[in-house]
Amino acid sequence: MLTLGIETSCDETSCAVLENGNRILSNVVSSSLAKHKPFGGVVPEIASRHCLEQIDFVFKTALRKTKVAEKDLGLIAVTQGPGLVGSLLVGLSFAKALAYQLGIPFVGVNHLEGHLAANFIGRPLPRHPYIGLIVSGGHTELTVHRNGSVKILGSTVDDAVGEAYDKSAKLLGLGYPGGPLIDRLAQKGNPQAFRFTKPRQEGRFDFSFSGIKTAVRNVIASPVCSAPRNDRILNDLCASFQETVVGWLVEKTIDACRTQKVKEVVVGGGVSANSRLRRLLGEEARPYGIRVWFPPLALTVDNAAMIARRGWELYRNGKRSDWKISALPNMRIGES
Ligand code: KG4
Ligand code: ZN
Repeated sequence: MLTLGIETSCDETSCAVLENGNRILSNVVSSSLAKHKPFGGVVPEIASRHCLEQIDFVFKTALRKTKVAEKDLGLIAVTQGPGLVGSLLVGLSFAKALAYQLGIPFVGVNHLEGHLAANFIGRPLPRHPYIGLIVSGGHTELTVHRNGSVKILGSTVDDAVGEAYDKSAKLLGLGYPGGPLIDRLAQKGNPQAFRFTKPRQEGRFDFSFSGIKTAVRNVIASPVCSAPRNDRILNDLCASFQETVVGWLVEKTIDACRTQKVKEVVVGGGVSANSRLRRLLGEEARPYGIRVWFPPLALTVDNAAMIARRGWELYRNGKRSDWKISALPNMRIGES
């Protein structure tokens, strides 16, 4: 079966063709990133306009690359939420119109479930149950997945981890998006140079990242950082920030595995590209016999192949969406 995936939850417009849920025939992503750079973050109106301008071209390109004809498609999987409502509506309207025209089913997919599903394309499935760690620009969630059902163990109480990277990078004058930029500089710095205090949270598995952004601002304003700009201090600050943030993610994830008696962790979202997270989580999990899954780097960014995969899984479990569904900007994991 050929599944067309459509992803327009934020600043990317993506279409993918997936064969039998496991072979990516094409995965075309058009990003509006450059248009947002001058503003230091995503501007929703610019993002949705870009999706509208790009969707038809991206769809046709995804088909052309596979030599698949429209009539060969058997299913459409489309991001229903969470995300920016304007962007989501572009993909959803396109998916409905195409499904109607072709007379094929379509399935609304949760974007965060898609991020986790990116791990399973062409790979054997984890032995259930597993812990999900979702780390993106908009979300930070720890979940437990048992027999097809999902429970949220904890979330961020303020900023998402990717947001903390982006805001701190902006304070440091590095540009947008901040995650890859901080990750790169961190590799040249001393992770012990600055100490950041751990936030206090409501729940054991909740996260908080707004305090560390303020702490970064305070370091920048302090005499250590007075002009002229010093590369060593910048690298040390990035390394210390990264070590702290990744340390919190890893600590809570391992704690979740141990309390839930789970031996598998599946990571997804833009921050799953982070080099330190990839290494440290693997190292900390090993002594407990916990296996860690990261998606291939190309599938860490928002893309339609992961949505196609999740939609295909849902379809196989009997899910079909009807014409009445609408975009859900605050859709929670487990709702699709
Ligand atoms: O999942 P994603 O593409 O979009 C959302 O659904 O939010 O995630 C984007 C986020 C941005 O905040 C970006 O800075 C972050 O992922 N990111 C990283 C890295 N690459 C991307 N954060 C840390 N380290 C990276 N290497
Ligand atoms: Zn995402």
